[in-house]
Amino acid sequence: MSIKKDFMEERETLNEKVFDYAGKEIKRFFSLDGQMYRKGALDESTKEMMGLVASAVLRCDDCIKYHLIRCYDLGVTGEQIQEVLGIAMMVGGSIVIPHTRRAFKVWDELQGSPREAPENPEEIKALPETFEKLLETVKIIVRGSFERDEKLYSICKLLKEKVDHYDWVGFYEVDPKAERELVLGPYVGDPTEHGRIKFGEGICGQAAEQEMSFVVQDVSKETNYLSCSPDVKSEILAPIFKAGKVVGEIDIDSHRVEPFTDADQTFLEQVAEEVATLFSFSS
Ligand code: SME
Repeated sequence: MSIKKDFMEERETLNEKVFDYAGKEIKRFFSLDGQMYRKGALDESTKEMMGLVASAVLRCDDCIKYHLIRCYDLGVTGEQIQEVLGIAMMVGGSIVIPHTRRAFKVWDELQGSPREAPENPEEIKALPETFEKLLETVKIIVRGSFERDEKLYSICKLLKEKVDHYDWVGFYEVDPKAERELVLGPYVGDPTEHGRIKFGEGICGQAAEQEMSFVVQDVSKETNYLSCSPDVKSEILAPIFKAGKVVGEIDIDSHRVEPFTDADQTFLEQVAEEVATLFSFSS
């Protein structure tokens, strides 16, 4: 077990515990915490480094570890980490020193562990088990007391964070006010220019029209494809059905070629089924 896996798994288990008890205020606070670190005017790694300074000054070792892991995954270098911890010491004073010691130990232990994408095919094969766990968490989120969009956003965030080959996760909804058109809902990943997609256009539009899941292992081989970014190499999506009618889609982009297995498709179709209650009929 790696330090990263150990920590993230314990965090996940404890979060589930919190969610067993939490009312909507705590759940909203959790959701806000995630949203605050999303890419905006500041990029994700800058935000994580800011979180790291604040955590060190406030002397929370758990928080320090979390932000170090996020920084590591986002490609922050050791030189940058030592400057970040230097600022924390400057602000917090010598009382931060013991936490700085532990922080460098964590940083050291992280070296060599995979950043985001597992290169090891064994890890990819192990995913179906993870999918089962993830689906349980999706169910908990759907049943919870968040607002509808917060639930969908939390699911995007969960999937993007937990599945290494998911780089953009979002929902499209069939717009009840438009003629056979999809409108972008909550998503996590780089902003996309495709806020609206007509039925039949791109992978999303074809899936809505043909009412079926699409697995595109290599987007460069597709002619009817709407590109969001040159980084995207493959895409998978599952329509969301309500009483046999497509009401939306869950859409995933990956930065890898051929990353998807049947397990991804089954999983996304299960997720689509679970979230259907959050979608309404279009006319
Ligand atoms: N690639 C999609 C467009 C939407 S994005 O992937 C977010 C398509 O071809 O329909």
